[in-house]
Amino acid sequence: MIFTVAIDGPAAAGKGTVGRAVAAHFGFAHLDTGLLYRAVGALVLKGSEPVAAARGLAPEALEQPGLRSPEVARAASEVAVIPQVRAALLEFQRGFARREGGAVLDGRDIGTVICPSAEVKLFVTASAEARAGRRLAELLEAGHDASFDSVLADVKARDARDSERAAAPLRPAEDAFLLDTSDLDAAQAVSAAVARVAAAL
Ligand code: C5P
Repeated sequence: MIFTVAIDGPAAAGKGTVGRAVAAHFGFAHLDTGLLYRAVGALVLKGSEPVAAARGLAPEALEQPGLRSPEVARAASEVAVIPQVRAALLEFQRGFARREGGAVLDGRDIGTVICPSAEVKLFVTASAEARAGRRLAELLEAGHDASFDSVLADVKARDARDSERAAAPLRPAEDAFLLDTSDLDAAQAVSAAVARVAAAL
């Protein structure tokens, strides 16, 4: 069976949690496409040229430690504005989406650019404050030093960069289901998403 669930939304809205849980529930493969941009960003921080780094990206690069740091997140959102970087990562994502057995991809442009004919599209969002609070908890738990204000400023800066860029800006697909998780816990967000996918299967 070929079946694609496209999940988009801003940073720390719960896309990853929802994506992983939906994939586990239905036995689908899951790709966090932010890791592709983070892996390119990490290479650029080490001195690589962004387009060459994206073209030569090896799947193992997605598994390296350190991709979740704020520095790499910032580098990722900077390389993500470069159209040739996005083009270099396109085929890998489309191939993943159409693999046998079902796939969930989460990112910023899955429903709009990568998989415009995905069987299900979800746009997962939440207020900037709710997202900053969650991201802060994650960072502290991972042993990073951070304050709420610095994380909130970072979330807003990334939102602006992701929404205002010319190449594949962050926006809901016209046929996406909007899931606002500001007042939902993870279990509630996951069950809303699972219900949506189950209805389309
Ligand atoms: O989702 P995550 O925070 O890991 O993504 C890191 C950055 O990669 C985002 O801020 C965004 O700029 C970029 N990105 C993107 N398109 C995607 C996934 C991530 O532009 N599909």
